[in-house]
Amino acid sequence: MDGSGTTIRHIQADEVEAFRRIRLEALRTEPSLFASRYEDWEALSLEEWRNRLNEPVFIAFQGDEPVGITGLVRQRSSKMAHRATIIMVYVRRSMRGTGLAGKLLSAVTDHARDIGILQLELFVSAENPAAIRFYQREGFLRDRQDSRRGSGGGQGDRRRHDGSPFGRLGLTRMAQRISACATY
Ligand SMILES: CC(C)(COP(=O)(O)OP(=O)(O)OC[C@H]1O[C@@H](n2cnc3c(N)ncnc32)[C@H](O)[C@@H]1OP(=O)(O)O)[C@@H](O)C(=O)NCCC(=O)NCCS
Repeated sequence: MDGSGTTIRHIQADEVEAFRRIRLEALRTEPSLFASRYEDWEALSLEEWRNRLNEPVFIAFQGDEPVGITGLVRQRSSKMAHRATIIMVYVRRSMRGTGLAGKLLSAVTDHARDIGILQLELFVSAENPAAIRFYQREGFLRDRQDSRRGSGGGQGDRRRHDGSPFGRLGLTRMAQRISACATY
Protein backbone atom coordinates (compact mmCIF):
# COMPACT_ATOMS: atom_id res chain seq x y z
CA MET A 1 0.00 0.00 0.00
CA ASP A 2 1.42 3.42 -0.78
CA GLY A 3 0.76 6.86 0.68
CA SER A 4 -1.26 8.01 -2.33
CA GLY A 5 -5.00 7.59 -2.07
CA THR A 6 -4.94 8.85 1.49
CA THR A 7 -6.59 12.05 2.61
CA ILE A 8 -5.62 14.05 5.64
CA ARG A 9 -8.24 15.98 7.57
CA HIS A 10 -8.20 18.35 10.50
CA ILE A 11 -10.93 16.47 12.29
CA GLN A 12 -13.86 17.87 14.23
CA ALA A 13 -16.05 16.41 16.97
CA ASP A 14 -18.18 14.44 14.49
CA GLU A 15 -15.12 12.28 13.67
CA VAL A 16 -14.19 11.57 17.28
CA GLU A 17 -14.63 7.81 16.74
CA ALA A 18 -11.84 7.78 14.12
CA PHE A 19 -9.64 9.72 16.55
CA ARG A 20 -10.33 7.18 19.28
CA ARG A 21 -9.57 4.23 17.00
CA ILE A 22 -6.26 5.41 15.61
CA ARG A 23 -4.98 6.90 18.86
CA LEU A 24 -5.72 3.70 20.79
CA GLU A 25 -4.14 1.64 17.98
CA ALA A 26 -0.98 3.75 18.32
CA LEU A 27 -0.80 3.35 22.10
CA ARG A 28 -1.60 -0.37 21.94
CA THR A 29 0.87 -1.28 19.20
CA GLU A 30 3.75 1.03 20.18
CA PRO A 31 3.51 1.35 23.98
CA SER A 32 7.21 2.07 24.46
CA LEU A 33 7.27 4.98 22.00
CA PHE A 34 4.70 7.28 23.60
CA ALA A 35 4.67 9.04 26.95
CA SER A 36 0.94 8.27 27.36
CA ARG A 37 -0.49 4.96 28.53
CA TYR A 38 -3.09 2.98 26.55
CA GLU A 39 -5.04 2.24 29.74
CA ASP A 40 -5.41 5.94 30.60
CA TRP A 41 -6.75 6.84 27.16
CA GLU A 42 -8.91 3.76 26.87
CA ALA A 43 -10.71 4.86 30.04
CA LEU A 44 -11.67 8.29 28.65
CA SER A 45 -15.33 9.07 28.11
CA LEU A 46 -16.50 10.17 24.69
CA GLU A 47 -16.87 13.67 26.10
CA GLU A 48 -13.20 13.67 27.15
CA TRP A 49 -12.17 12.48 23.69
CA ARG A 50 -14.19 15.31 22.19
CA ASN A 51 -12.56 17.81 24.56
CA ARG A 52 -9.15 16.74 23.30
CA LEU A 53 -10.23 17.93 19.87
CA ASN A 54 -10.15 21.50 21.21
CA GLU A 55 -6.53 21.28 20.11
CA PRO A 56 -6.02 20.48 16.41
CA VAL A 57 -5.85 16.80 15.47
CA PHE A 58 -5.06 15.58 11.95
CA ILE A 59 -5.94 12.10 10.77
CA ALA A 60 -4.90 10.33 7.59
CA PHE A 61 -7.69 8.22 6.10
CA GLN A 62 -7.47 5.42 3.56
CA GLY A 63 -11.08 5.44 2.49
CA ASP A 64 -12.95 5.55 5.80
CA GLU A 65 -10.13 3.86 7.67
CA PRO A 66 -7.91 6.01 9.91
CA VAL A 67 -4.27 5.03 9.25
CA GLY A 68 -2.24 7.87 10.75
CA ILE A 69 -2.50 10.72 13.22
CA THR A 70 -0.78 13.78 14.61
CA GLY A 71 -1.78 16.77 16.70
CA LEU A 72 -0.58 20.16 17.85
CA VAL A 73 -0.58 21.82 21.26
CA ARG A 74 0.11 25.53 21.45
CA GLN A 75 1.97 26.93 24.44
CA ARG A 76 -0.48 28.71 26.70
CA SER A 77 1.47 31.66 28.04
CA SER A 78 1.24 34.75 25.84
CA LYS A 79 5.05 35.04 25.80
CA MET A 80 5.34 31.52 24.37
CA ALA A 81 2.29 31.54 22.11
CA HIS A 82 4.52 31.49 19.01
CA ARG A 83 5.60 27.97 20.00
CA ALA A 84 3.71 24.70 19.68
CA THR A 85 4.42 21.04 20.28
CA ILE A 86 3.68 18.31 17.76
CA ILE A 87 2.20 15.29 19.50
CA MET A 88 0.72 11.81 18.87
CA VAL A 89 2.67 11.17 15.63
CA TYR A 90 1.80 7.70 14.37
CA VAL A 91 1.46 5.87 11.06
CA ARG A 92 0.11 2.32 10.85
CA ARG A 93 2.92 -0.15 10.22
CA SER A 94 1.65 -1.17 6.75
CA MET A 95 1.77 2.49 5.65
CA ARG A 96 5.28 3.32 6.86
CA GLY A 97 7.94 4.23 4.34
CA THR A 98 5.25 5.52 1.95
CA GLY A 99 5.64 9.26 2.56
CA LEU A 100 2.42 9.44 4.55
CA ALA A 101 4.24 10.53 7.72
CA GLY A 102 5.72 13.46 5.78
CA LYS A 103 2.25 14.44 4.55
CA LEU A 104 0.89 14.40 8.09
CA LEU A 105 3.77 16.56 9.22
CA SER A 106 3.13 18.99 6.34
CA ALA A 107 -0.54 19.23 7.29
CA VAL A 108 0.22 20.06 10.89
CA THR A 109 3.01 22.48 9.90
CA ASP A 110 0.77 24.32 7.42
CA HIS A 111 -1.87 24.67 10.10
CA ALA A 112 0.71 25.89 12.63
CA ARG A 113 1.92 28.52 10.19
CA ASP A 114 -1.66 29.63 9.50
CA ILE A 115 -2.29 30.27 13.19
CA GLY A 116 0.96 32.20 13.65
CA ILE A 117 3.22 29.55 15.16
CA LEU A 118 6.89 30.31 14.51
CA GLN A 119 8.55 27.41 16.27
CA LEU A 120 7.57 23.75 16.34
CA GLU A 121 8.84 21.39 18.98
CA LEU A 122 8.47 17.71 19.66
CA PHE A 123 9.86 15.11 21.96
CA VAL A 124 10.94 11.69 20.83
CA SER A 125 12.22 8.68 22.71
CA ALA A 126 15.99 8.42 22.50
CA GLU A 127 15.40 4.74 21.64
CA ASN A 128 13.30 5.45 18.55
CA PRO A 129 15.81 5.69 15.67
CA ALA A 130 13.20 5.58 12.88
CA ALA A 131 11.31 8.56 14.28
CA ILE A 132 14.50 10.49 15.03
CA ARG A 133 15.72 9.87 11.48
CA PHE A 134 12.32 10.91 10.10
CA TYR A 135 12.18 14.16 12.09
CA GLN A 136 15.76 15.07 11.26
CA ARG A 137 15.10 14.44 7.57
CA GLU A 138 12.10 16.75 7.89
CA GLY A 139 14.33 19.53 9.19
CA PHE A 140 14.05 19.18 12.96
CA LEU A 141 17.20 19.84 14.90
CA ARG A 142 18.11 18.75 18.37
CA ASP A 143 17.24 21.44 20.87
CA ARG A 144 20.41 23.10 22.22
CA GLN A 145 19.10 23.19 25.77
CA ASP A 146 18.22 19.53 25.47
CA SER A 147 21.70 18.55 24.27
CA ARG A 148 23.17 20.30 27.34
CA ARG A 149 20.98 18.07 29.49
CA GLY A 150 22.16 14.89 27.79
CA SER A 151 20.17 12.07 26.26
CA GLY A 152 17.72 12.03 29.17
CA GLY A 153 16.54 15.39 27.84
CA GLY A 154 15.72 16.55 31.37
CA GLN A 155 12.66 14.34 31.30
CA GLY A 156 13.84 11.99 34.03
CA ASP A 157 10.52 12.33 35.84
CA ARG A 158 8.62 10.79 32.91
CA ARG A 159 8.12 7.04 33.01
CA ARG A 160 7.44 4.53 30.28
CA HIS A 161 4.51 2.11 30.30
CA ASP A 162 6.69 -0.41 32.13
CA GLY A 163 7.82 2.19 34.71
CA SER A 164 11.36 2.68 33.38
CA PRO A 165 12.66 6.22 32.74
CA PHE A 166 11.58 7.70 29.43
CA GLY A 167 14.74 9.15 27.85
CA ARG A 168 13.63 11.74 25.32
CA LEU A 169 15.23 14.09 22.86
CA GLY A 170 13.78 17.53 22.24
CA LEU A 171 13.77 18.48 18.56
CA THR A 172 12.83 21.88 17.14
CA ARG A 173 12.02 23.37 13.75
CA MET A 174 10.89 26.79 12.61
CA ALA A 175 7.34 26.59 11.27
CA GLN A 176 8.14 29.01 8.50
CA ARG A 177 10.34 26.87 6.28
CA ILE A 178 12.93 29.61 5.80
CA SER A 179 15.79 27.30 6.42
CA ALA A 180 15.93 24.85 9.25
CA CYS A 181 19.70 25.19 9.47
CA ALA A 182 19.58 28.97 9.72
CA THR A 183 17.49 28.85 12.85
CA TYR A 184 20.30 27.98 15.24
C1 LIG B 1 7.59 7.92 13.25
C2 LIG B 1 6.79 7.48 12.03
C3 LIG B 1 5.49 8.27 11.95
C4 LIG B 1 7.62 7.77 10.79
O1 LIG B 1 6.92 7.27 9.66
P1 LIG B 1 7.71 6.40 8.57
O2 LIG B 1 6.76 6.11 7.47
O3 LIG B 1 8.33 5.25 9.29
O4 LIG B 1 8.81 7.46 8.15
P2 LIG B 1 9.78 7.44 6.90
O5 LIG B 1 9.84 6.08 6.28
O6 LIG B 1 9.43 8.59 6.03
O7 LIG B 1 11.18 7.78 7.60
C5 LIG B 1 11.74 6.92 8.53
C6 LIG B 1 13.25 6.92 8.37
O8 LIG B 1 13.83 6.11 9.39
C7 LIG B 1 14.58 5.08 8.77
N1 LIG B 1 14.47 3.93 9.66
C8 LIG B 1 13.47 3.03 9.74
N2 LIG B 1 13.74 2.16 10.73
C9 LIG B 1 14.93 2.54 11.27
C10 LIG B 1 15.74 2.03 12.30
N3 LIG B 1 15.40 0.96 13.01
N4 LIG B 1 16.92 2.67 12.58
C11 LIG B 1 17.28 3.77 11.89
N5 LIG B 1 16.55 4.31 10.89
C12 LIG B 1 15.40 3.68 10.59
C13 LIG B 1 13.97 4.89 7.41
O9 LIG B 1 14.89 4.28 6.50
C14 LIG B 1 13.71 6.33 7.04
O10 LIG B 1 14.89 7.04 6.74
P3 LIG B 1 15.28 7.37 5.20
O11 LIG B 1 14.21 8.22 4.64
O12 LIG B 1 16.58 8.08 5.32
O13 LIG B 1 15.39 6.03 4.50
C15 LIG B 1 6.46 5.95 12.09
O14 LIG B 1 7.66 5.23 12.03
C16 LIG B 1 5.66 5.56 13.30
O15 LIG B 1 4.44 5.70 13.33
N6 LIG B 1 6.35 5.01 14.32
C17 LIG B 1 5.66 4.54 15.52
C18 LIG B 1 5.17 5.70 16.37
C19 LIG B 1 6.26 6.68 16.68
O16 LIG B 1 7.42 6.34 16.84
N7 LIG B 1 5.85 7.94 16.77
C20 LIG B 1 6.75 9.02 17.11
C21 LIG B 1 6.56 9.38 18.52
S1 LIG B 1 7.56 10.82 18.92
